[in-house]
Amino acid sequence: MQLRRCAALVLEPCERAEFQLAGLLGGGTGVVTRREWLARAPHLPAAVAVEVDDLPLLGDIGPDDWQDDAVLVARHGAARVQRLREAGLLIDDAPGPARDADEAVRAQHWHALAAVVHAASRWDGEDAPRSMEAHGIANAEGLRERYGPPPPAVRAAHGGGAVLPLPRADPDAFDALLDARTTCRNFDTGALLGRDAFARLLERVFGARARVEAAPGFEVLKKTSPSGGALHPTEAWVIVQRVEGVAPGLYHYRPVEHALERLAWEGDAAALRALARVAVAGQDYFADAHALVVLAPRFGRNFWKYRDHAKAYRVLALDAGHLSQTLQLAATEQGLGAFVTAAINEVGIERAFGLSGCVDGPLAVCGFGIRAATMAKSEFDPNRRVWTRRVD
Ligand SMILES: Cc1cc2nc3c(=O)[nH]c(=O)nc-3n(C[C@H](O)[C@H](O)[C@H](O)COP(=O)(O)O)c2cc1C
Repeated sequence: MQLRRCAALVLEPCERAEFQLAGLLGGGTGVVTRREWLARAPHLPAAVAVEVDDLPLLGDIGPDDWQDDAVLVARHGAARVQRLREAGLLIDDAPGPARDADEAVRAQHWHALAAVVHAASRWDGEDAPRSMEAHGIANAEGLRERYGPPPPAVRAAHGGGAVLPLPRADPDAFDALLDARTTCRNFDTGALLGRDAFARLLERVFGARARVEAAPGFEVLKKTSPSGGALHPTEAWVIVQRVEGVAPGLYHYRPVEHALERLAWEGDAAALRALARVAVAGQDYFADAHALVVLAPRFGRNFWKYRDHAKAYRVLALDAGHLSQTLQLAATEQGLGAFVTAAINEVGIERAFGLSGCVDGPLAVCGFGIRAATMAKSEFDPNRRVWTRRVD
């Protein structure tokens, strides 16, 4: 049998605190720290605990050149080789799930550290508000109490140089638009969003404004947001909940035709709302949006140019941020509310839309829709540009 190491691997020395009753009964604190090595490989669903004596074997085999297993067995013992093969850290030359998953990571040209960070930051089944409540950090007072005061809102003057006052411009319509953008946490769950407003927003944010053939077979789209390398790898996967003339369900937006492809989805409105809630990690106020848009880059489109590149993943996060801001401004201009969140259950979203995580992977979820008449969940609108009628 031929073996090689998986494509990307980070070995992390960890220290875990554990409670042991015997220690407490013996007069101590009961808290025992345990050190272990975790092998983090992005093609595996979770980190794998390995022994310190496994490390020489993992360092003795490369990710590219196949090696005869007999050589490794002679050096490190059959049991160790088999255990690391079964864990998916060593890949053998026979087809199988571990090899397929490893090949998928390789084919995208991920930078190894970025692949590990991406895999390690995916959530499955998280409830962000409940978790923050449990840790006492669900509001500003709790945060202040738990962590002390934060670093100041503005950096202190740097070097004592002269401070040059700048002229302030008279506010115009663009300022009014910018000032009215406020993260919406109050959607009208009784109203339907008009189809034209919905379509216009998708067109403005995700639609192609032009197509250019930069080189034979290399098509580039022009959009309203910038994108690293002009590659526009971020796809829009839409959960439609309450839009006139568009059946509730899951869709993929097609930027050139300006069309929605309907995806398989079995379930009623309540099931769709439950999926929206999973997507935004239990944030009910966001799950109420009329439509939610999962921003998920096709990693291979960016990494085709930025191969194994240490900055490529950062560029994808910036791309998603630009799309989010364009979406929020476009929504505000149409009198709608909008939000973005990175507190998302990537794994649940991938399951629902049939994404693989390392080929197409959600980085953020945006949503938009008609604002509710009253503010039940707090929004940050100190200048009262949105909640002008609020009394407090
Ligand atoms: C990347 C990103 C992630 C965010 N995630 C959340 C979130 O998980 N939950 C939430 O309520 N707001 C989230 N927000 C919204 C911020 O809380 C909000 O922008 C901030 O409070 C300032 O308010 P404003 O957007 O109304 O100016 C996020 C914003 C950004 C840019």
